[in-house]
Amino acid sequence: MKILALVLTIVLLAGCSKESKDSSGKDADAERGRAAYLANCVACHNNDPSKDGPIGPALKGSSKELIESRVLSTSYPPNYKPKRPTKVMPQFPFLKDEIPYLAAYLR
Ligand code: HEC
Repeated sequence: MKILALVLTIVLLAGCSKESKDSSGKDADAERGRAAYLANCVACHNNDPSKDGPIGPALKGSSKELIESRVLSTSYPPNYKPKRPTKVMPQFPFLKDEIPYLAAYLR
């Protein structure tokens, strides 16, 4: 009986550690996105994406579609109402692979 309890405990612990690995995987995505953001975006957008920057608007909650359109082609997804009417932001085609991470960070 005792052995059964032990086995059960081990199984439960293994289950837990797997779960925490999954969520730390997500954190790692956001962390990579943060690095790309700080390296490329904060000249205009705020260090804190929930606030307006010196030139660009707040980005917190931006969808992956919006980020991809903006960063790769400075366009907007269909029917999206831009926060600003201006066309100041440049394209960053080299950030193609970073889009999912930027989205994870700005979510
Ligand atoms: C040279 C300044 C500048 C840089 C650098 C810049 N942006 Fe922008 N961004 C802007 C401005 C200004 C706007 C408002 C629209 C416009 O004028 O282009 C904007 C708009 C946006 C929007 C749309 C906001 C909305 O909801 O309407 C997103 C998303 C965005 N930027 C993401 C980024 C990301 C991600 C980066 C870094 C890879 C970045 N920007 C780098 C200036 C910049």
